[in-house]
Amino acid sequence: MSPEDPVEAHNRQAWNRLVDHKSCFTTAAEDSSFVDPLGTVDGLGWLGGSIAGQRVLCLAAGGGRHGPLYAAAGGEVTVLDISDGMLELDRQVAAQRRISLRVVQGSMSDLSMFRPQEFDLVIQPVSTCYVRDIAQVYRQIARVLRPAGLYVSQHKSPTSLQTSLNWNPNTTGDHVGTSGGYVLQHDYYSGQPVAPVPQRTHLREPGAQEFVHRWEQIIGGLCRAGFVIEDLIEPFHADLEAEPSSLAHRSAYIAPYMRIKARRVGEAKSVLVF
Ligand SMILES: C[S@@+](CC[C@H](N)C(=O)[O-])C[C@H]1O[C@@H](n2cnc3c(N)ncnc32)[C@H](O)[C@@H]1O
Repeated sequence: MSPEDPVEAHNRQAWNRLVDHKSCFTTAAEDSSFVDPLGTVDGLGWLGGSIAGQRVLCLAAGGGRHGPLYAAAGGEVTVLDISDGMLELDRQVAAQRRISLRVVQGSMSDLSMFRPQEFDLVIQPVSTCYVRDIAQVYRQIARVLRPAGLYVSQHKSPTSLQTSLNWNPNTTGDHVGTSGGYVLQHDYYSGQPVAPVPQRTHLREPGAQEFVHRWEQIIGGLCRAGFVIEDLIEPFHADLEAEPSSLAHRSAYIAPYMRIKARRVGEAKSVLVF
């Protein structure tokens, strides 16, 4: 067995701690979301109204939410996650609700435990930030997804990861004569993890190591791995009237996430390396 990558080991422990502390990032799906499970996970209708019988990989998606909901919607679900604690939550929810799903502990960077084209659909909640090399993740997904299969993923936006969590009242404002703003702190090209969060926030997970991926890596990387992008949205959280430094106020300046609908079409291109 090859030794565990230090970043993966760090993040596995960090996520296990979040589970132990019952953090808000580890909340399982609530009862009401099972009334219309597909509507809950696919409010945009990207999945065509039914996933019945589809082989679904919920990638880096432990925590008792995505796996149980996709399974309740009729998918044949596999949840892969690096954290044993997060996977235990899936086992518990599945047992409570008599839902059938498979859980696999491992890293999104190595999906060699799955057969080529084993899945019809891969969904990935925010999690690519936990690995240094997003291109490696895309290559793995392209291998296990059948041609024309969908890959739906959500990511932290690069700008959001680069920028201070707190409102700084002393910077120049966005209109003449005003002051205050969020401050761009982390450089775009370092490839190093961003500074750990000093406080409780909904935007960053305490203790986890996170990486800024550039747009050319997030979007260009998908294309180079053999996907076409069919849609991209930035989920709306903004409220300029909210308390400065809150998620809603900061989101009025920086869209924190983007969700991408990509379809596997071709073979991965290996000519360009970034
Ligand atoms: C945002 S959470 C998953 C979904 C969560 N239940 C929710 O509702 O948003 C991100 C997940 O990524 C997992 N993770 C971090 N690094 C990983 C890696 N290298 N491979 C697989 N999973 C990883 C964490 O253990 C965590 O469960």
